Amino acid sequence: MDVTALFKFSSGLYVVSADDGGRPGACLVNTGLQVTSAPLQVSVTVNKENFTCGVIRRAGHFALAVVDESADMLFVGRFGFRSSATEDKFDGIGSAVAVTGDRYPAEHVASFVACNVVQTVDVGTHLTFVGEVADAGNLSDVAPMTYAYYHGTLKGKTPPKASSYVEGIS
Ligand SMILES: Cc1cc2nc3c(=O)[nH]c(=O)nc-3n(C[C@H](O)[C@H](O)[C@H](O)COP(=O)(O)O)c2cc1C
Repeated sequence: MDVTALFKFSSGLYVVSADDGGRPGACLVNTGLQVTSAPLQVSVTVNKENFTCGVIRRAGHFALAVVDESADMLFVGRFGFRSSATEDKFDGIGSAVAVTGDRYPAEHVASFVACNVVQTVDVGTHLTFVGEVADAGNLSDVAPMTYAYYHGTLKGKTPPKASSYVEGIS
């Protein structure tokens, strides 16, 4: 089996974030998806070891922001290679709070949705949260960043906690 076949799946990059009243969590994912339009639902798949996963599970809601092509590796590193367990990832950048109470980045993002979790599916290493959209908005006209752009133009790597990680190939 050639697992690199899955590298040809298309996806975008997103910041998923949640606030359960304690320490907020936010991390970069490539697993944001629209699931249905009536009701309007999206899903996001988060590694159980990411701090943000526990925050979403406890909060029962999350915000999902679509990263745009203005984002640089500093922005990616902030959300994708560091942990909310030890730092406030929103410190020093523009952000806003959704109707669900979840803070999301307001810079380098094209749009956002705010969701209430209606289903949680345990897929082993990760949890898939299905959320019903409570609010949505556009923030920039810059093109959304695809995973292909991240790899090809930013020369970004895939960390072990990403759903698409394959050992030995980054
Ligand atoms: C390009 C990229 C894609 C990623 N995709 C995912 C993903 O789909 N799911 C996931 O759980 N983590 C993914 N990650 C890893 C998390 O963003 C990373 O583990 C983060 O530091 C977790 O932060 P937290 O501990 O504050 O939750 C990805 C990281 C990068 C750089």
